[in-house]
Amino acid sequence: MILDQNIINIISDFSSKSEHKNFYLYDMSVMGNKIKELQKILPESVQIYYAMKANPHKKFLETAKNAGAKGIEIASIGEAKAAVEAGFSPSQIVFTGPGKTENELRWGVENKIQKIHIESLVEAHRLNKICKELNHVQDILIRVNPNFDIHGAQTKFSGDSCKFGIDQDVFLEVLPQILNLKNLNFKGLHVYAASGVLKVEDLLENCRRVFTITRELEAKNPETRCDIIDFGGGFGIDYLETGADFSIDLYAKELKKLIDNFKFSDREFILELGRYLTADSGWYCTKITDIKTSLGKKQVICTGGAHHFRRPVALNINHPLSIITQHEDKIFDGQESVKDEMIFIGGPLCNGADRLAPKDIYVEQAEIGDIVVLGLAGAYGLTMSHTKFLGHAEPDEFFIQS
Ligand SMILES: Cc1ncc(COP(=O)(O)O)c(C=O)c1O
Repeated sequence: MILDQNIINIISDFSSKSEHKNFYLYDMSVMGNKIKELQKILPESVQIYYAMKANPHKKFLETAKNAGAKGIEIASIGEAKAAVEAGFSPSQIVFTGPGKTENELRWGVENKIQKIHIESLVEAHRLNKICKELNHVQDILIRVNPNFDIHGAQTKFSGDSCKFGIDQDVFLEVLPQILNLKNLNFKGLHVYAASGVLKVEDLLENCRRVFTITRELEAKNPETRCDIIDFGGGFGIDYLETGADFSIDLYAKELKKLIDNFKFSDREFILELGRYLTADSGWYCTKITDIKTSLGKKQVICTGGAHHFRRPVALNINHPLSIITQHEDKIFDGQESVKDEMIFIGGPLCNGADRLAPKDIYVEQAEIGDIVVLGLAGAYGLTMSHTKFLGHAEPDEFFIQS
């Protein structure tokens, strides 16, 4: 990853301000611009929701709101409360995720959450019971676990046994049971097959298949209509720097054609985007504190590790890495440094899984005191990490609006 001089200066500046030299830096202009651009090119019936699990910091929620995101996708009461605090109204919230408890569902109903996504038959019955008690009719989407596979996805939620949704193979059989629950108001489907998809055609295939399921459902149940179809998230980010780019222009153009072909222009569509909106707004920065050779390989130890940024090791993906030279005074003559070699780089935790790059990585030059920068760290970063392990200080979070 090549950092431009402006970002190098900003990171060096914040590094001197960060007590433990471990921090995330976010450029808040990225997300706002992306939301506005998507809204400009997508068909009007397609609404952008922010999947806040990608980065739940208040500044991201406020940015999504200010940029005009139509709503927000949450997976817990905690997320819902944070969304409301940041300015979203309950009528803009959809509540997803498997295993929702009685308490969570009741909270959702009592707080007038716009839509609750049903992930199983149990959840449908549990929610109906609560709604009956509270004399409320709740809008729902039903999540279907599709029996097709999305090629090239970083993470798949489909084509296999899965905790998300109701299997497509039995969905049409069990649907009448859910439609009969008087306190649930069926609004449509949620089918989210895969995450981190870089090829537009692969995600469009998901849309095409969902439309086919919708047609089948409506043919079999003529009284029922899917007013809303939620495609989930899935727009990919090129973590491996292969040059691939998820083309939103192509996606918008082809999705419009698909909607027209299926004569679905009177329906509403939801995109719950997380990673695409946030990943390239963030950098995780830490400092090299030790370098040594072990059995012929350089071990580069930083003050921060997987407890701050777990995603690389959790998904076995090397994020783009850069070193910002600091020319710190040497601790002793003969101290080791890195020069044109493959290295191990990790943090101070007492386990082998504490790697900042899960696969050994080539580094041109690095010395103790230099700043290590991992790019594309704005999504699934700090809140997906085990920050409490070993009691190290948490990283700072700094923001710029360039
Ligand atoms: C229900 C749901 N919606 C949206 C997303 C966001 O996905 P992405 O970050 O790939 O856009 C996720 C991610 O796991 C999810 O579980």
